[in-house]
Amino acid sequence: MRKKIKNNVDWVGKIDWELREFHGSDFSVNRGSSQNAYLIREEKTVLVDTVWAPHAREFIDNLKQEIDLKDIDYIVTNHGEIDHSGALPLLMAEIPGTPIYCTANAVKSLVGQYHHPEWNFKTVKTGDTLDLGNGKQLIFVEMRMLHWPDSMAAYMTGDNILFSNDAFGQHYAVEELFNDCCDPCELWYEAMKYYANILNPFSPLVTKKIEEVVALNLPIDIIATSHGVIWRDNPLQIVQKYAQWADAYQEDQVTIVYDTMWDSTRVIAHEIAGYINKFSPDTKVRVYNLSNTDKNDIMTEVFRSRAIAVGSPTVTNSILSSVSGWLAFLKELKFKNKKAAVFGSYGWSGEGNKELRAKLAEAGFEVVEPEVRANWKPTREELLPSEAVARALAQG
Ligand code: FEO
Repeated sequence: MRKKIKNNVDWVGKIDWELREFHGSDFSVNRGSSQNAYLIREEKTVLVDTVWAPHAREFIDNLKQEIDLKDIDYIVTNHGEIDHSGALPLLMAEIPGTPIYCTANAVKSLVGQYHHPEWNFKTVKTGDTLDLGNGKQLIFVEMRMLHWPDSMAAYMTGDNILFSNDAFGQHYAVEELFNDCCDPCELWYEAMKYYANILNPFSPLVTKKIEEVVALNLPIDIIATSHGVIWRDNPLQIVQKYAQWADAYQEDQVTIVYDTMWDSTRVIAHEIAGYINKFSPDTKVRVYNLSNTDKNDIMTEVFRSRAIAVGSPTVTNSILSSVSGWLAFLKELKFKNKKAAVFGSYGWSGEGNKELRAKLAEAGFEVVEPEVRANWKPTREELLPSEAVARALAQG
């Protein structure tokens, strides 16, 4: 179904209400998502991106309601990942010679995925242009590592639309399509979750790219993302937010994350939580059990925290696999400028805290000295260091 974006530019993507996970199970999708594709009809007709492979047939059928596919002069593929390129095989079977504008890296990924080296690729670099007629152009901007080496954006002069692909997107299904029409709390939460769980490792590049795009001095009326809402009302607000998020972002929050076998580590988690506001009354405190809370939502809370505490009981000379798996993901996300503390219970050998310390240090956290370590069920005496842990996390 087509939706008007501006003048001769229409949205022709897929609102994917059923989607519940993304990148395998690496990213939970709680509110659905969309794969946004766009059709530009100036003197030249241009398709910008497509949809995920399972929706390819529906996408092509809908597109045929709009135009004769043979009228498409150019295809722009901003990113080769299959959620945006998945309809290319069906499309190219119908219009095989149509030029595909993309980066050199995108050619590698498209050929690797679809095995069609004969497609008519036209590789572009930052600053290259494509004439649309009617005095309008597309200007290409490479977005290397935001979030793949092949990522690119395209800016449309005249209508001042930035087709940003994954950057500035959210996994958030809304029929309303524009940022001024949807629930702002949901939108900002989903935008932050997307940044924290996908883009945060590339924050230094985000900062550089924003500086580069701002220096181009291009007026931007619309940021047309490839997932979620399109930024139409004050579109630069999401650019400004990305600049903040990329700069070792934190709020006044402490988050406590744990898993527990027989409740002892849970008791310590809540003991620490109860002391935080004694030392810092305005600090937000959040406590999450990894076994019953979405890992990506917890990661979003870590993203906005200035300190965390992580707890696990000792099990088979190590920590629970739920906690070690989560810590591996934490390391990938490269959070900066955050403190951490450790806690846990044990019955026999008791190496859990040591392992937590090592893994948090590897993940780039400044691990504070105080810790809570309790044998079997924590006694009042064993819980006493909870106050020192809370003080270390709450201050500074
Ligand atoms: Fe939305 Fe990197 O694909």
